[in-house]
Amino acid sequence: MRRPLVGSVPVPGDKSIAHRAILLAGLASGTSRVTGGSLGEDNIATLGALRAMGVRAAEEDGVLVVDGVGLDGLRAPEVPLDCGNSGTTMRLLCGILAAQRFATELTGDASLSRRPMARVAAPLRLRGARIEGRIDTKRPGEITAPLHIGPLPAPHVLSSLEYETPVASAQVKSAILLSGLWADGPTYVREPLVSRDHTERMLAALGVPLRSVGAMVELHPAGWSGTLPAFTIQVPGDLSAAAFLIVAAQIVPESRVDVRRVGLNPTRTGLLEILRDMGGALDAQARGDELGEPIGDVRAASAKLEAVRTGGEVVTRAIDEVPILCALAARARGRTEILDAAELRVKESDRLAAMASVLAAFGVKVEERPDGLVIEGVPDGPLRAATVPSRGDHRVAMTAAVLGLVADGPTRVTDVGCIATSFPRFAGTLRALGADVEVVASEGES
Ligand code: S3P
Repeated sequence: MRRPLVGSVPVPGDKSIAHRAILLAGLASGTSRVTGGSLGEDNIATLGALRAMGVRAAEEDGVLVVDGVGLDGLRAPEVPLDCGNSGTTMRLLCGILAAQRFATELTGDASLSRRPMARVAAPLRLRGARIEGRIDTKRPGEITAPLHIGPLPAPHVLSSLEYETPVASAQVKSAILLSGLWADGPTYVREPLVSRDHTERMLAALGVPLRSVGAMVELHPAGWSGTLPAFTIQVPGDLSAAAFLIVAAQIVPESRVDVRRVGLNPTRTGLLEILRDMGGALDAQARGDELGEPIGDVRAASAKLEAVRTGGEVVTRAIDEVPILCALAARARGRTEILDAAELRVKESDRLAAMASVLAAFGVKVEERPDGLVIEGVPDGPLRAATVPSRGDHRVAMTAAVLGLVADGPTRVTDVGCIATSFPRFAGTLRALGADVEVVASEGES
């Protein structure tokens, strides 16, 4: 077994909140300041898209200073907007671009170009937007990037919309709500389960008349000034990044890890609840809030874990944490069942298939279901060291690295460049906690 992980470490700013802060700062009237850790590549893609549409932004002493152009100030970009690996960039931009009088093209890397986009195009078309994509011949009715959006036809205004989303998706909900800023009537969005609500919290904090009742959100532009004020935000630490450290602390014996000033929005804390049910050692202390987002400190330590059966709304609130939840399950006593997680098949990779093969490579018995995984834990003794491909997926790569901390020899995760999309200093952070991790580029890797 390896050395314990001990210490207090920073994590990058919350990727979801930073996307929204950058977009709304670009659309605000005046100069906004966004701080809170280094931006990963996904957030940089969002910033790049705004810059290409005339928003000026510069980093000064770790603060991103954004000169907002106002809701009607974006200019036609001269080139396609490259969203890289970031689904949030592409889908949230759809909501904004749907309302513009100019045309845009949105492109992404190979993974993003496979991801479903009809879910965001369909509601925006219903309120008058033009959005076309590449027809996906294997999935009837589906479209994928590159997307061609706009220009918004005369009378150049989106209509009101009442929409029920088929899946709980904060990206879809956010695109619809953002488009509602330019609509001539109210927007109602209902979801099957409540997805993360960062857009609602930030818009409400900036004075947009918006209200949530259960899984329904309403935005009523009547009586609103029609401008977003400039703002300052210190983006909370990313709980989804901290999750890798919190889980590593649980499974590496004698560990004790603190993560300070991390986002504790209840629509994101599903993993902490599941971890408590598994007998995890965890303490989360609330420490106030930032532009409507709850923040706190999390202390994690090693623990004896028990298997759980989990699904439904808590899995929606842990949707990005299912890969690392698999690492907990791999070390828990008994059979863990993860249900209702079919959305994982259309993330940066098919994460159910990816995790099934990663776990098998470490010698853990796993059964793949259409909407989840059944994992037979190996609570005693080390796992079998493995060489595993990341499939270009940052969360798969980081989970495999965490599993490698309890393996019986060196583990090799290939193609780890993707980690920079969300946690550029991941390896260094594990090293700072005492882990033996090295990043070596090999042939064909970037
Ligand atoms: C995100 C929403 C989630 C999540 C993604 C970030 C967001 O996707 O998986 O990493 O910032 O809105 P869906 O909304 O598609 O579930």
